Amino acid sequence: MSQALLEAGGVSHGFEYTLFEDIEFVLKASESAAIVGRSGSGKSTLLHIFSTFLKPDTGSVKLLDKELYTLKEEELERLRRYEIGIIFQFHYLFKGMSAMENVNVATMLSGEEIDTDLLEKLEIKALMEHKIGDLSGGQQQRVSIARVLSKKPRVIFADEPTGNLDKETATLVMDVLLSYVKENSAALLLVTHDHEMAARCDRIYTLEEKVLREKG
Ligand SMILES: Nc1ncnc2c1ncn2[C@@H]1O[C@H](COP(=O)(O)OP(=O)(O)O)[C@@H](O)[C@H]1O
Ligand SMILES: [Mg+2]
Repeated sequence: MSQALLEAGGVSHGFEYTLFEDIEFVLKASESAAIVGRSGSGKSTLLHIFSTFLKPDTGSVKLLDKELYTLKEEELERLRRYEIGIIFQFHYLFKGMSAMENVNVATMLSGEEIDTDLLEKLEIKALMEHKIGDLSGGQQQRVSIARVLSKKPRVIFADEPTGNLDKETATLVMDVLLSYVKENSAALLLVTHDHEMAARCDRIYTLEEKVLREKG
């Protein structure tokens, strides 16, 4: 049996009102899962809960066998630095630096080497000396994905990572993420509006009316 990298049970959370209740979710090594659902249903909130950033009102979240919300801040920081990769629709690159310098920051912090194969697969190898500000939006998003994957994370959380990309670039990004997961026994949790991208994951869930359900 493959190892659970993320295991959540009885997770409920709300702000002004309850967003979701009693969420059960397991993600194992080499697996990918997508969560789809209407805007405002709580997908990003659930991703924040699963990825160390938000303590839920109730429930348990275990990441790599650690009960997240019992950990000290330093232990959460360590998980963020070494074990998880987070990809958002809007990247957070340093604008004045080159693409290579941006990737270097991540690899230095995590003690990994830059993976030139990865740069080739993302079709950005020839752009690495360019300043971020001189790259297109799609190129910048691919640099930010290279930066995240260069850390060699075990679990990747991606919130609308292809939301601003054309179809061809979105497909390339999904190819890279899914092959990374298989090659590294990692796991991917993807939040997306794009049903075509969701369908490429091993499992699809919907977050609707406070319930997370696997689509059959
Ligand atoms: N930090 C917060 N404080 C108060 N309300 C929030 C906060 N984060 C999200 N919300 C509210 O929770 C609801 C769900 O948001 P979100 O998780 O971003 O949904 P989704 O990603 O599915 O669009 C929204 O109504 C949003 O305004
Ligand atoms: Mg969202």
